[in-house]
Amino acid sequence: MIKRETIDAIVSACRIEEVVGDFVHLTKRGVNLIGLCPFHDEKTPSFNVSPARGIYKCFGCGEAGNAIRFVMQYEKCTYVEALRYLAKKYGITVEETERTPEAIRQMNEREALMAVSEFAASFFSDNLWKSTEGRNIGLSYFHERGFTDETIMKFRLGYSLSNRTALLDKAVNEGYTADNLEKAGLVLPPRQGEDDRRSDRFYERVMFPIQNFSGRVIAFGGRTLRSGDKKIAKYVNSPETEIYHKSDTLYGIFQARNAIRKADKCLLVEGYADVISMHQAGIENVVASSGTSLTANQVRLIRKLTNNVTVVYDGDAAGIHAAERAVGMMLKEGLDIRIVTLPPEDDPDSFARSHSLQEIEEYIANGERDFLKFRIDRFLQQPDHDDPLKKAAFIRAVAEDLALIPDSITLSVFVRQSSEMLEVSEDVLLSAVNKIRVRRYVEEKQRQSAPAEQEAAEAAEALVPEPSREKPVPDTPAFLTIADVERALLFRLVNYGDRMLVLEQEGEEPRIMRLDEMVFNDLEQDQLELETPLYHKFYNMYKEAFLRQPETVLQQLQYSQDEEVLQLYTALQDVKPAYSSGWKQRKSIIHTIDDQDELLREDLLDVLHNLRLMHLRKMKEECELALKTEQEEEEMLILLSKIRQINEYITIIEKKLGVTYR
Ligand code: CTP
Ligand code: MN
Repeated sequence: MIKRETIDAIVSACRIEEVVGDFVHLTKRGVNLIGLCPFHDEKTPSFNVSPARGIYKCFGCGEAGNAIRFVMQYEKCTYVEALRYLAKKYGITVEETERTPEAIRQMNEREALMAVSEFAASFFSDNLWKSTEGRNIGLSYFHERGFTDETIMKFRLGYSLSNRTALLDKAVNEGYTADNLEKAGLVLPPRQGEDDRRSDRFYERVMFPIQNFSGRVIAFGGRTLRSGDKKIAKYVNSPETEIYHKSDTLYGIFQARNAIRKADKCLLVEGYADVISMHQAGIENVVASSGTSLTANQVRLIRKLTNNVTVVYDGDAAGIHAAERAVGMMLKEGLDIRIVTLPPEDDPDSFARSHSLQEIEEYIANGERDFLKFRIDRFLQQPDHDDPLKKAAFIRAVAEDLALIPDSITLSVFVRQSSEMLEVSEDVLLSAVNKIRVRRYVEEKQRQSAPAEQEAAEAAEALVPEPSREKPVPDTPAFLTIADVERALLFRLVNYGDRMLVLEQEGEEPRIMRLDEMVFNDLEQDQLELETPLYHKFYNMYKEAFLRQPETVLQQLQYSQDEEVLQLYTALQDVKPAYSSGWKQRKSIIHTIDDQDELLREDLLDVLHNLRLMHLRKMKEECELALKTEQEEEEMLILLSKIRQINEYITIIEKKLGVTYR
């Protein structure tokens, strides 16, 4: 902790106009100063600084405070960091109250590791500029890639010599310990049986120092120049250390942060070279995720600076895939995401090198699409996009994404937009989204609610197996309602009810029976009833007619006195199957009559399975909703066990559907 006296000294030394003046161009206006607000985008100055009162206030965006607050806001740093910054600016020695020995040790260790990393960065840089090997190999490589000296210096690029202990020797000679070199990831642990000699992690590579938000070197990426040699990894990166957590770091954030703030937008690319070439082209609001998919902490780092991210990934399929993967995380964190894809042969690096600043800016401005439009456009470009199953699966995937959006206004805009593009009703889509939200809520709750006793927790875990997400199961499309499936079933009764099918059941002789009979048996088995009132009525009338005289079912229906039933009867006769499942595809492959009956049977089973699946899902949802409000642990366990059972049935049916679909 910083001592009270130090804080007082800092506060009284600070002059608001000086602190702000380091970042904002201020001009005098009466007793106050005025400038362009650094916290929002404006053309006419509404940012006021009052030296007399020691405060700033923006009349445009409302941001206001004292010098410390300004630093915290501008640098997106903590209170203590702001104090340290100001102390340094005014030459005040920071005195700290006693810390625990452990805290001191940790802080000292982090400091020590940063110091040794900083030393390594200078060493690699010196190698590049001053050693013959570095100049001949490293520097000429960077030049060949088109990096200017200025760029090389801006990113502090360097070179690690072929001598395997060059850094180790030099650093130890300068007083750094081999232990700290190792802890900073710069030196490899001694190899067993090799007389304890340690050696450098990086050798014969061009070096990219990785800097944190405030510019301190915390890690390195080293690229080999032996591009032909498949045995050598293209990049060697620092391991995780006390100061470097890959998942919390974005390459280029230090060089990009002011530009990101100013543009109120962050471009996200994949690699070191992409960041550097974009900078050199004049686009500075760029960071890289370094070839991994984006983490929550990386997103939070961006969000300190802006809410707007444009993902600029390679134009090839892998790039597009990576871009889509990055999206989920950003949605969840409430960012506004756009995606722009480059021409297929380009990555941001090559694109930036072969285009002018204006061309790049125009390409991005014209090409960026919000993520959703991007996804849907891509889907609609696929030749089979109107296949009902494909479309259903896609809509579900979209709903999964939408369900991540935390802000309800944003969500409603996106739901409307996507329902229009996909030609599904807004209600249906929204209800799919809400179902996913409930599901996630329940899952989250189940994960979090660690009941007091270990036992109960374990019981709950045993009861609810994590649904396996590895392979997507063919799914009842989200936009199909129970009514749709029921109608599909009636369609089959009316059009194929009298067809004879072979029913094979385990342990029984194969039996031949009418299709409609098979339906009756099947539904009775589970006491399933149609729930749409009209369909329920129709089904019962059909069944009654069948029981009276199977041969004349249709005639009997035709003479029904019930207007509604009659209408439905006619409607069912001339529509194509509302829900054709795999029927269409299979039909095109197989032609013989016998086979057609087999197809009909499979098709019918599909429909029956789907009907059952939908009922089960509904039951499950009801249980999950109940679970949400249930307080009693015992009741919760009962519900959980019910859900588990339902899950089991669902899995069984999904498996069956999977078999018939493939
Ligand atoms: N990367 C990595 N380790 C690897 C390969 C890649 O850490 N073995 C990371 C690096 O951050 C790299 C990024 O993934 O910058 C993108 O990989 P790639 O496109 O292969 O590298 P470039 O930076 O484009 O390198 P170059 O253009 O020099 O081939
Ligand atoms: Mn590249």
